[in-house]
Amino acid sequence: MDPVPSPTHSGITLNVNGEKHALSVDHRTTLLDALRERLDLTGTKKGCDQGQCGACTVLVDGRRTVACLQFAVAAEGREITTIEGVAEGERLHPVQQAFLDLDGYQCGYCTPGQICSAIAVIEEHAAGWPSAATDDVRPEAGPPPLTPDEIRERMSGNLCRCGAYVAITQAVARAAGARTAPAAQTTADRGAAA
Ligand code: FES
Ligand code: FES
Repeated sequence: MDPVPSPTHSGITLNVNGEKHALSVDHRTTLLDALRERLDLTGTKKGCDQGQCGACTVLVDGRRTVACLQFAVAAEGREITTIEGVAEGERLHPVQQAFLDLDGYQCGYCTPGQICSAIAVIEEHAAGWPSAATDDVRPEAGPPPLTPDEIRERMSGNLCRCGAYVAITQAVARAAGARTAPAAQTTADRGAAA
């Protein structure tokens, strides 16, 4: 689609999950609405629409971003990854697989945002980024152990109204290969223990 010259609209190209999409958008259109309403990528959820719940979390150039607070025009030229783009073909992303194995959800509404956020959390942690729960923030201390407290703090921007936090924390720990987290149980484990 050719750009439409207008004081209120711009022609932009969004690079989403490796595909380029040419759109004419109102300058006030959020990235969230562009994804859901224009590109039919409805895996990204709208919860609060004001940056408080994390349901709309996507990756922009590998960093987690709440799509309801970013204008679509500001995302032009960036690499956007939504939940529809994290798997490799039929193979689930390790974070998706961990959420599935450990029941890291109930209704599932927050789950796409939780998974996108967790993917970035694991990268941020591996890169040595401290969190508010990190005791020793000196660069030479290296990444802190990815304890449940660290995971909860780093995932605190993603709310779950179903309260599936215990399994979410376990799933992030498993996906990160964290050895300090409590032993994660599979559904089968829990059934066997019941
Ligand atoms: S919908 Fe974006 S943070 Fe809640
Ligand atoms: S699984 Fe229902 S809101 Fe999180």
